[in-house]
Amino acid sequence: MAESTLVSDLLLFVKSNFLPLLVLFFTTRAIYRRYFHPLAKYPGPFICSVTRLWKVWSVYQGHTELDFIDLHRRYGKIVRVAPNELSFSSPTAAHDILAPGNGFTKTEFYRVFPPKHAPDIFTEIREWKHSAMKRVAVVPYSLASVQKMSPWIEEVQRELIGKIGEYADGEKVCNLGDLLHFFAFDVIGEFAFSQRYGFVAQEKDVGGTIKFIDDVQWYDGIIGQIPEFRHVLRESPIVQYLISILSPPQITQMALAEIAKRKKTGGFFLEPERKDLLGQLMQGQAKDSSKFSEMDVFSVAHGAIGAGADSTASTMQSFFHFVLSNREIYDKLCKEIREADLSPNVSWAEAQDLPYFQACLLEAMRMRPAVGLSIPRYVPKGGAKIDGKYYRGGIVVSVNGWAVHRDALYGDSVHEFHPERWFSETAKEMKKHMYQFGGGGHLCIGRNVALFEINKIIPQLLMNFDFELVHPGRPLKSHSTFFVVQSGLEVFVRRR
Ligand code: HEM
Repeated sequence: MAESTLVSDLLLFVKSNFLPLLVLFFTTRAIYRRYFHPLAKYPGPFICSVTRLWKVWSVYQGHTELDFIDLHRRYGKIVRVAPNELSFSSPTAAHDILAPGNGFTKTEFYRVFPPKHAPDIFTEIREWKHSAMKRVAVVPYSLASVQKMSPWIEEVQRELIGKIGEYADGEKVCNLGDLLHFFAFDVIGEFAFSQRYGFVAQEKDVGGTIKFIDDVQWYDGIIGQIPEFRHVLRESPIVQYLISILSPPQITQMALAEIAKRKKTGGFFLEPERKDLLGQLMQGQAKDSSKFSEMDVFSVAHGAIGAGADSTASTMQSFFHFVLSNREIYDKLCKEIREADLSPNVSWAEAQDLPYFQACLLEAMRMRPAVGLSIPRYVPKGGAKIDGKYYRGGIVVSVNGWAVHRDALYGDSVHEFHPERWFSETAKEMKKHMYQFGGGGHLCIGRNVALFEINKIIPQLLMNFDFELVHPGRPLKSHSTFFVVQSGLEVFVRRR
């Protein structure tokens, strides 16, 4: 009896003093986090030490990559960016955090990315499941397999060159950035589903796909900083219901139709020699469906669209913007490519033999890696060493490629585009520490696709055309969702 009176008195007290108690709770928590938390000794802005809202705001604003460069410039190589999170800008620390076998695991940040019930290789945070999916996917994503898709990738290349030719023959300004974006989507369509979505042909964002992906990823990026809120937002039953009654985006519909078609015919591939990602995943599922389910086939194949196009497009746009912004670099690059006697479709091997082109590409990926947000990992339960120093288990440690790539390890004038740095004695060490594709056990599985198309198309474009920026000195417009989504690469183009 006495006990129940005590409980009801307590509830009454809480009810009548709700607001002051709330203020007391948040104040006490802020004081603890700022002064007594195990990470209290690390430098960083005051706001970051007491709340994750700074990170939310930063992603909302769309320039997290620049915010992180600035944070590390102001506070040093280790910055407390949230009450339980440290950001590292040293390349050797990034290596320790991302290295396979070091026990660092993906955080709930990744769980926010859809689809909720069918995580793909990127969003799956259970390491055992991630490994099972990767085991099936590494084969279609291998360079050898990607190279076998050349005939269809080359068709998209010819289409793009034809389109740019139309601009060269006409008077209109060419939006090269948009065309490269469309190209990246069509290549992924061919690689993953043997489908040409028609972005290049129609010169438009088919079905609003690019806009849809960017909007969704912006949400993911923001809520990913406070992942528990996903339960009351997109993952709440009401929103899930609303999503279920809306028709899925056009390219998702095309992917589903392609899967249904192949299931009906019982064949894995459209044509026997056309070994696309979807068919190879279906083969993997047929071998052992207990380890790789039908849902995995859909999520891994579909995941390629979300992960593979914006990223590759952003990299190509950065490349062109840097190179076209410096006449000396542009001339040197064109000379190398135009004197190299390349075949019309430029093979992978031929592109590897273009040292200055490779230096420009590395430099573009160093300066503007396509992922703008930080990659977060949990320190394993028992704690772990980073850069030789011990960190307790359970804290989040993160790596932002933009901040890391400005370390002195990459030489002088790290804030400037300077391809010549890749011919220095330290180039080997620098290459070892490039994080544009992440690293370790979660190193980008699609990098062969991206590098393959980039290595073929860029030399071809420079072989065929002369480009000039319409607005020299004007930076690209950019907005970091997860990827750095860019626009504004407008050029004058002439045939050679
Ligand atoms: C230049 C283009 C690309 C860049 C810069 C890039 C960058 C990255 C980065 C930084 C990661 C690590 C993310 C993390 O650990 O949180 C990653 C992972 C991933 N990327 Fe890419 N990516 C590119 C192209 C592609 C393409 C073309 C595809 C698919 C066709 C793809 C599919 C994936 C997948 C599935 C993962 C998850 C890998 C894992 O966790 O094991 N990416 N990418």
